[in-house]
Amino acid sequence: MAGWRTEKLQGFCYGGDYNPEQWPEEVWLEDMRLMKKAGVNLVSVGIFSWAVLQPGADNYDFAWLDRLMDLLAKHGIYADLATATASPPAWMAVNHPDTLPVDKRGSRYRHGSRQHYCPNSHVYRDYAARLVRRLAERYKDHPGLAMWHVNNEYGCHISECYCSSCEHAFRVWLEKRYGTIDELNARWGTNFWSQKYYRWDEIGLPAHTPTFANPGQQLDYRRFMSDSLLDCYLNEANILREVTPGVPVMTNFMGSFKPLDYFKWAQHIDVVNWDSYPEPTSGTGQEYAALNHDLLRSMKGGQPFLLMEQVTSQVNWRQHNPLKRPGVMRLWSLQTVARGGDGVLFFQWRQSRAGAEKFHGAMVSHMGDEHSRVYREVEQLGGDLQRIEEIADARITAKVAIVFDYDNWWALELDSKPSADVRYMKSIETYHRALYRANIAVDFVTPEQDLSAYALVIAPTLYMVKPGVQDNLERYVSTGGSLVLTYFSGMVDENDRIHLGEYPAPFRKLLGLCVEEFDPMLPEQRNRIKTADGGSYECSLWADIIRLDGAEAIAHFESDFYAGGAAVTRHSFGQGKAYYVGTQPNDVYVAKLLGTLCEEAGIVPPIAAPAGVEVSVREHADGRAYVFVLNHNAEPVRVELPPGEYANVLDGSAKQGEIELPVAGVAILKRNAE
Ligand code: GLA
Ligand code: ZN
Repeated sequence: MAGWRTEKLQGFCYGGDYNPEQWPEEVWLEDMRLMKKAGVNLVSVGIFSWAVLQPGADNYDFAWLDRLMDLLAKHGIYADLATATASPPAWMAVNHPDTLPVDKRGSRYRHGSRQHYCPNSHVYRDYAARLVRRLAERYKDHPGLAMWHVNNEYGCHISECYCSSCEHAFRVWLEKRYGTIDELNARWGTNFWSQKYYRWDEIGLPAHTPTFANPGQQLDYRRFMSDSLLDCYLNEANILREVTPGVPVMTNFMGSFKPLDYFKWAQHIDVVNWDSYPEPTSGTGQEYAALNHDLLRSMKGGQPFLLMEQVTSQVNWRQHNPLKRPGVMRLWSLQTVARGGDGVLFFQWRQSRAGAEKFHGAMVSHMGDEHSRVYREVEQLGGDLQRIEEIADARITAKVAIVFDYDNWWALELDSKPSADVRYMKSIETYHRALYRANIAVDFVTPEQDLSAYALVIAPTLYMVKPGVQDNLERYVSTGGSLVLTYFSGMVDENDRIHLGEYPAPFRKLLGLCVEEFDPMLPEQRNRIKTADGGSYECSLWADIIRLDGAEAIAHFESDFYAGGAAVTRHSFGQGKAYYVGTQPNDVYVAKLLGTLCEEAGIVPPIAAPAGVEVSVREHADGRAYVFVLNHNAEPVRVELPPGEYANVLDGSAKQGEIELPVAGVAILKRNAE
């Protein structure tokens, strides 16, 4: 499918996970009334219904789901129908204990919570396939079916399994990847520590080892597990595509989520989406969400995405679970729209009476009616999404991109490194945060992808350089792009073997420098860097000892034995420029550096807004553009608008000059034709 819009999925999707099997059927009617009142048009049903749908190995019961689907259709609410395979019934654990996953120390998990299946269990996969085929055949022509929700949050709890089925599947995966055992030995460098293999069946999983397991093996195990879970997804998705070719198929993602290579997965889902649970009172929830919105949106070329789950009020799974403050749920929901989302859904519709999630907030609380603060906010948001319907499908254009790569993330964070504190997401966040706070739109890209649409590309800590990446980045810069690389980049190949020569070997030419040594700092240690204009900025974590070889230094270290040495450099390469940041500078410096680079490239924010005010633009192909202005501050703010007359599409009010936004206030401005 190209895109996910069908006749049934128009405008904004609004709703949540709906688990009516937890309630007597009288409650379902009340649910319909409250859903209609709140403007709900899409609910995810059946996610944890396997045990109800299949009481025994050869025994299915779809009666309640039939009634539910009919009820939804009667009320004009569409089903994002789940395949129910995320939590196998008890009989499976009893009849087939080897469907249960095994941990690193060889201990088998039990039935009794959820996601207790080994990703490589053929028994599990076969049962799943049989259930999915029945569901697809049964509901394929149902007027209520709008979308398929395969499984749920693959890998959320179990993203590794060390059972014998997985071990066998790993060997098959390796043989397919490397062809010969000699090739595998070379790629993994097994002459180290007597690890050489002579037969495929000598190879095990990197489980419980006395010390560091082979890095190549660990890395391939991560790839293999991401692929194993993807095979579980495809096992179901292929059936759905065969039986219902016109119905979009997806599974819910969890933001950047390390265990699964979502760039690879995204090629197999029709609707990119994610479940967002920022800590609500840290003050940085909106930055976390913005990064993940941008990342997920980028995975399908900017196609509108869905926020598949969030909480209305508070979750149950942190040590302390404060409430989202009044207005914040609406603010963060409209932030989703501001950054390219065309749907807002919650976990869950009605707060559970029993079970481990009974203290997890919902659209309808234990109170059970429309009189809670939370329901009122839910109803208000439903109205907002209807009022702004004309925005659905509008796109975001970014001139800046951040490189993101799962293989790099996995390899960078393997054990036995110069510093255990080098964390990929911290590095990515540093650069995203600077752009986010400056209200500069940003996409994420893979290192192999065509970068020509971007004026500025930042590749934080690109430790692993896979085949083709050096050429791609050189081509980008030589044809006029600006590229920023940072410390501990260009170190290893796709098997975590060093790129020999002076560091960073694949980027020496592009950067016009050589890193002679690197000096990771202790957690409390700091240095400073000095710029030509006299500025001085704190830096931490890492210091590269750089010898210039064509590049010029634009900042120098202030102390230690490399005081006066280059810390940040610039190198002209073809028609473009390559920058290198050989440390972790503070946010002030990163903002200044990126500010300068954006300015040079002519990239400016849509509105000059005060700190804590997020601005983002969505535009239709016909030129209709919407400027979102969101106040994340704990105080009201005034924002100066560029000349012109605007309409706030949230309430139709006319705006010009200056607007005032209350705490958690949002304006969505459409410029009137002159
Ligand atoms: C995840 C799951 C849901 C629910 C929520 C609770 O996102 O998909 O089933 O457990 O967490 O926050
Ligand atoms: Zn297993």
